Parts: sequence; structure tokens; C-alpha cells
Amino acid sequence: MHSTQTRTVNVGLIGLGTVGGGTARLIMRHHDEYLHAYGIDLKIARACGLDPARVDELGLDPAIFTTDWREVTSDPDIDIVVELIGGEHPATEIFEAALTSGKHMVSANKALLGRHVERLAALAAEHGVQLRCEAAAAGGIPVVNALEHALVGNNVLCIAGILNGTTNYILSRMTAEGLDFAEVLADAQRLGYAEADPSADVDGFDAASKVAILSSIAFHTRVTTDDVYMQGIRNVSADDIDQARELGYAIKLLGIARWTSSGIDARVHPVMIPRDHMLASVSGAMNAVYVVGDAVGETMFYGAGAGSFPTASAVVGDILELAQPIAHGAAPAPESEPYERTLPIRQIADLETRYYIRLSVADRTGALAPVVKAFADAGISISAVNQLADDGDGSCSVVFLTHLARERDVEQVCDTLAALDDVRSVASVIRIEDVDAWLDGVEKND
Ligand code: HSE
Repeated sequence: MHSTQTRTVNVGLIGLGTVGGGTARLIMRHHDEYLHAYGIDLKIARACGLDPARVDELGLDPAIFTTDWREVTSDPDIDIVVELIGGEHPATEIFEAALTSGKHMVSANKALLGRHVERLAALAAEHGVQLRCEAAAAGGIPVVNALEHALVGNNVLCIAGILNGTTNYILSRMTAEGLDFAEVLADAQRLGYAEADPSADVDGFDAASKVAILSSIAFHTRVTTDDVYMQGIRNVSADDIDQARELGYAIKLLGIARWTSSGIDARVHPVMIPRDHMLASVSGAMNAVYVVGDAVGETMFYGAGAGSFPTASAVVGDILELAQPIAHGAAPAPESEPYERTLPIRQIADLETRYYIRLSVADRTGALAPVVKAFADAGISISAVNQLADDGDGSCSVVFLTHLARERDVEQVCDTLAALDDVRSVASVIRIEDVDAWLDGVEKND
């Protein structure tokens, strides 16, 4: 038990939705533990939301409720402002008002921080306060903390993550039940796993924001969401998943960020990875972040990337980190992460990997001859060809696997293939990730 004199730490909560509600409940339920274990008397002093009824639901004092966030950011008693509304506006204005008023900030806002963390961190540094964002990277998984503290002795070489629960849920069900994307998406929406407008999840934006935040911290160079190549899962079909299984792979939407000698490779897209890789076993709505450090080698952090209490766990962890010195009469260290661009970003056209390409081709003699020639003309070497069952309309699917090839050459050959008379469509192009290359640069034991 803590016996030293401490002062109350006042939190202003903006956003009382799923995560805001979980945060309020966690702080109230654990108040006495925080006080006894850490000497922190943590109080929600202001709560801002849209609906006054939410205050009753959460058991908050109605006197602290407001619908105007300015009443929180301008309240002189507030030490820490917690922004949990998401989106760019008015979140940007909330950050600016709180930081310039000298309030520390905690946020789970991946969309805003993925794009603008360098500007907001600079504002925090200028006003001598800190900005913390554990919950913005992978919900409840404490990976920001690991990168900022426990792993700082390493050069991080690679981060590969299942950073979006909605898409992992959809791909897992497609894999387990042999269903197509549209069918599982509709069911996921009905069950509340996917949003009515699913685009931020299924088109990769949510995962790309998280890649931007994680790689900026891990590689000490600014990577913004707009730097991250992004491709979602709409084009992954049950046939592709089936083929992947036969080839010994699982299809996952991964956020990948690698340090390379020519810059940072940052991308989100569906990949084939070996079915025995630890990331392949992460199923349903769960998240996992695989981190390779030059000293530690492989690590993997697994947990819930969304949800009320899991995300609140990360938010409250950040709040307590800030509250510890405040409670004891000191100030948390001001923001020090400069988030400056010090390394180039590699373009996706420069990626070199193996590819799975599925074509819908007219089922007639000689149809494949110009296809094979197109690959040869582009300098792409084929490692295997597999003709699948007839599509039933005079065409059939043919899968080509390539040896290592350059993305720009693959893009070019796909354009050529799409224009051939006997090619009905280039139905899918999926990168086969070389997971062994993720370990390049790990120190060998003496
Ligand atoms: N919508 C996200 C997901 C959680 O499905 O994982 C918030 O980033």
C-alpha cells in the first residue's frame, strides 16, 4: 500500500462510446486498486458525449457531463485529456486545444495519428506535455509500450501484423467454411462484426494507419498512412483460399513494415504465408503483431485489437503512466519522439517477391501459349501452373506461381494478359511472402 501524500489526478474524457464507456467503467471499478497499488487517486472530472443518458448508464456523476468538448480542454483542473471519438474532425481541434492548454493527451485515434502524429507530437513537445497512443496501434495489445521500452535495445527489422480484426474474422470464416467474401461480409455485418460501411476495414485503411504508427515508432523515421501501400481483401475468393491451402499457405491480410538498406518497406495487402507460421494460426477477430529485432529475434504479441474493455485496458495503461508522476507532484517527461523522416520509403513497384496469379482463360487449345509468352517477355519465370475445374461458361481458372519477380514487371504482365483475346480476366494476384527474409539481419548466437 502507498502511504506517501498524493494528489488527485483529473481526467477529462471526450467520447463515451464503446471505448470511452469501457475506459470510464475501468477507471471507476479499479479506482481503489490504483490508489493502493500506485498511490494514484484517478478521477474522471469531466465527461463529454452526445447523449446525456449515457452518463446514467455508465454510473458517472451527471454534474460532470457536457456535450461541448471545449469545456473539457479549457478546464484548468484537468490534467489529462482522453480523446476517444475517432476520425479527423473535431479530434484535430481537440488535440490542438488540449495540447496548447498544457494538458497531456491519450488517444486511440489511428486515423488521425497515422496521418498527423508528427505535427501533434511537435505541438505536445512545444507545450511540455506528452501524447500517448497505445490503443491506436493494435487495441489492447501492448506493442507500442514494447517498442518504446522493452525492445529499445534492438534495431527492429520487421513488423508483420494482423492489425484488423474484421478482415481476419472474414478471412477465417472464408477459410473454415469455403464461402466467398461477399457472403461472409453480409453475415459479419448482420452479426455486428463488420460496420455497415466496411470500407475502412476491408480496403486496408485501418491496418495501414496502424502500420504507419508502429513503423514510425519502431524505425525512428516518420511513415504516414499515405506512405503505406494499401490493398484490401475484396478480391480474395474462396478458390484462392482453397488453392493456397493446397500449396501449404494461409491467406491473411497483413500489415508489413520492414527496414531495408534502401528504405522502409511499408504495405498492407493479402499475402500467402506458410500455414505453419505463427501468424497463420491467428484466427477470428483476434490481432497479433510479430516483431523481429536484431537481438531478440522473433517475438509475437497476441490479443484483442478492438472491443470496449481490451481497448480501455491500453487507454488506462497510458493514463496511469502519465498519472504516476502527476499524483506524486512531478510532471511527466514532455513528448520527445521527433517523428522526423530520416529514411526513404520504398515504392511497391520495387518489391521483389513470389506471386500467385489466377487467370480466367477460354478453355480451348492454344489459349495458354500467348499467356506463357507474355510471362517470358516480361522476364518473369513461372514455377508452377495449375488448371482448376471449368468455370462452366467455356472458361476455366488457371493458376500461375512465379519465382522471385519485381512488382513493376508483374503489374506490366497483368496489363498484357488482361488484353489477350483468350484471357477473360486476371482474377487475382496475391503476393507470396518470403517469411524467412523477415529474419535477415538477426544477430547469430556466439
Ligand atoms: N475496426 C478495427 C478492426 C478495430 O476491425 O480491427 C479498430 O481499429
